[in-house]
Formats: sequence, structure tokens, C-alpha cells
Amino acid sequence: LASTEVDLSPIEVGQSLTVMWRGKPVFIRHRTEAEIAEAADVALDELPDQEADADRVVKPEWLVVGGNCTHLGCVPLGQKTGDEKGEYGGWFCPCHGSHYDTSGRIRKGPAPENLPVPPVEFLDDTTIKIG
Ligand code: FES
Repeated sequence: LASTEVDLSPIEVGQSLTVMWRGKPVFIRHRTEAEIAEAADVALDELPDQEADADRVVKPEWLVVGGNCTHLGCVPLGQKTGDEKGEYGGWFCPCHGSHYDTSGRIRKGPAPENLPVPPVEFLDDTTIKIG
């Protein structure tokens, strides 16, 4: 399938869902106010791969990013309740220790780039199309 539709309505604030798109995991996180503020407050020059949070989301409460570490492709932790989320509150890749922030941007470790943002379109308030 070239694109996939996802119903966001069951995902509570602070929860995440992993869906498959083009054979690869995509992370969807219903971000908390604190996670949104943290992502927006970072100065771009602190980032190895400089991208503003606002350029990575359609709506701030919904972050949608590719779920493979940009180092060697492992699936980072941070999707499940109780997962290690790393030093920046987003995701932690245990393979070689990459830390991603609440915008899915690389902050520390060997990964060279941010988790990629796929094409996302809102079909209505609680349905997105990825791809
Ligand atoms: Fe994630 Fe190496 S694959 S840190």
C-alpha cells in the first residue's frame, strides 16, 4: 500500500502507537503539553540535524516519525509505557545509544539524522493519511 489511514481517536495524550507504512514502522505520539513545549523550546544551534519542531508536525499534539534509528536502523525504545525514553524524553536506541527528543530529533549518540517525517495529511480531526 502506498498510503495508510490511521484512526487517532483511541490514542490518549501521552500514549503512542506504532503502525506499519511501506513495510517499516512509523511512530505516532500524542504529545503532552510538556513534550510539545520541550520540543519547541530548543535552540536550533543545539541540534546536530537542525530542524524546528514546527516544521516537523502538522498539529503540535501529533508527532509522526519513521520508527527506524538513522544510525543502523534499529527500532528505538520509547513507544511503550515504561520504556526507556532517553535523556531527551523522546526515544532511545539501545543498539548503540542514540537519544532522540520529543520531536524525534537526534540529540546524542551515533545517529546522524533526525527520525524522518513521512507525508502526513489530516482527513478529519482524528484521522490521518500517511503517504
Ligand atoms: Fe540506533 Fe545504532 S542503530 S544507535
